[in-house]
Amino acid sequence: MPTSLSTSPAWLDFTQAVRDAARDGSQLRILQAGGLQVDLTAQPQSAELDKAGAALLAQQGFDAARAGLFDGAHVNWTEDRPAWHTALRAAQPPAAVAETVVAERGRLRDFVERADADGAYRHVLHLGIGGSDWGPRLAIQALRHRGLKRDVRFASNVDTHDIASILPTLDPHQTLVIIASKSFTTTEPLANLAVALEWLRQAGVAEPMRQVAAITANVTAAREAGIADEHLFPFWDWVGGRYSLWSSISLPVALGLGCDAVEQLLAGAEAMDRHFRTAPLAENAPVQMALAGLASRNVLGYGSLAILPYDSRLGHLVPWAQQLEMESLGKVATADGTPVGVDTGPVVWGMTGTDCQHTFFQWLHQDATGAPVDFVVCQTPDHDHVQNHRILMANCLAQRAAMLGGKPFDEALQETLSACADPQQAAVLARHRVHPGGRPSTLIVLPRLDAHALGSLLALYEHKVFTQGVLWGINPFDQWGVEFGKKLAQRIVRELGDEGGGAEGWQDASTRHWIRMLSAPATGK
Ligand code: F6P
Repeated sequence: MPTSLSTSPAWLDFTQAVRDAARDGSQLRILQAGGLQVDLTAQPQSAELDKAGAALLAQQGFDAARAGLFDGAHVNWTEDRPAWHTALRAAQPPAAVAETVVAERGRLRDFVERADADGAYRHVLHLGIGGSDWGPRLAIQALRHRGLKRDVRFASNVDTHDIASILPTLDPHQTLVIIASKSFTTTEPLANLAVALEWLRQAGVAEPMRQVAAITANVTAAREAGIADEHLFPFWDWVGGRYSLWSSISLPVALGLGCDAVEQLLAGAEAMDRHFRTAPLAENAPVQMALAGLASRNVLGYGSLAILPYDSRLGHLVPWAQQLEMESLGKVATADGTPVGVDTGPVVWGMTGTDCQHTFFQWLHQDATGAPVDFVVCQTPDHDHVQNHRILMANCLAQRAAMLGGKPFDEALQETLSACADPQQAAVLARHRVHPGGRPSTLIVLPRLDAHALGSLLALYEHKVFTQGVLWGINPFDQWGVEFGKKLAQRIVRELGDEGGGAEGWQDASTRHWIRMLSAPATGK
């Protein structure tokens, strides 16, 4: 790998090829990947770009990095460990971890089947945050139309208004509280567990801890907190937090939707793993999405990526992907500590369609910058309102077409001339109706929203992000930026408890001021 990415021959060729590539959508390009279709027609395309992308991947050591990901190499080099989420969803996990992975899968299934047989737990209250929350929360929201066996609720925020709004809707005698925290040191789930335990006690539950299960890689801390071994579901430090849905973090999904749904999720993700591992580069969907992302970020000048699922059940895909993409790719230091030298992960944002059209599409179509979009749709809906589904799909296709094709001035002028007799005024008005076009997008089509397709979709994004990490030369598996803020928050919590003592230690006037102001005892009501 050359020392400077931005001046390397492969980078220069790639960026030039992006500039020269067609962006008119004339060439249909749909990749088949793990049961999904990924339509890249509205991304820059050319034979030279394919070649330059392959050369850039080779220069950045993609083959070896991908092999390392699947083989359990220490691809998370700043924490010196594997990021082996693919092992968790393999029907036959790699030998080094097979025994323990299969054993934990079995324990989870036994627990859920016993609870089902006993008719235990009408409600499940899942307490986690970030990667210990978004995955199962997304899966439950996306798949609840398939029938929920239990009422599964999620409270993540340390803002107690969150959990307080949920507790009155649950029967404390019929609720399993799950604390999900890889580290078992995260403020939010621990604070919420304390609130939940208090709620159980006040409701007369004699042994509240018997209604608590823990999912964690820090078994010692969970035991110390009083969790019984039969309610303790471990996973391992080689599973990144935002890649942990494939571990026992899926317990609430299994309790809500059944163990078979979890197995289908894993199978879908494994199908995408197979595709990522074996498909030729030009037909490899995560790889091509990664390259399209670099084209947008580093050449076409886009600072963000909008993810727009035209399916209300996929609303949580947006924050899930925000954490995946931004926690993984919001970095600048390469393996030898030098800066990447080019922009890395974009801001990721989004909303479900068609609400998004009435919220920010004006900006997407006519702002001077705009953003590339990932549109996500399900070909077949799970309702009988065929015409409404057609309307939904039509809206998605129309927005893509408008972003890509745009509306030139002449066309806009024809429109305004037909309504305005004054040609000068018509020309002015036409300027307001011009759509620049040429804005890239990807369309991801799920055959239908089931667990298999969802697993495949999530793994598609995971592998895209991994590939971008390789291309930029950054480690997508750590999150030192978040750790720093967490430490400062712990310090300020201590200082607030100390009636503002310690405020003087802060350099900036505002932090000093607010520590003093907020250290006054807070009342609940
Ligand atoms: O947001 C920072 C982070 O460390 C994420 O990476 C992680 O998913 C989340 O906090 C929760 O961490 P834990 O599972 O250890 O409670």
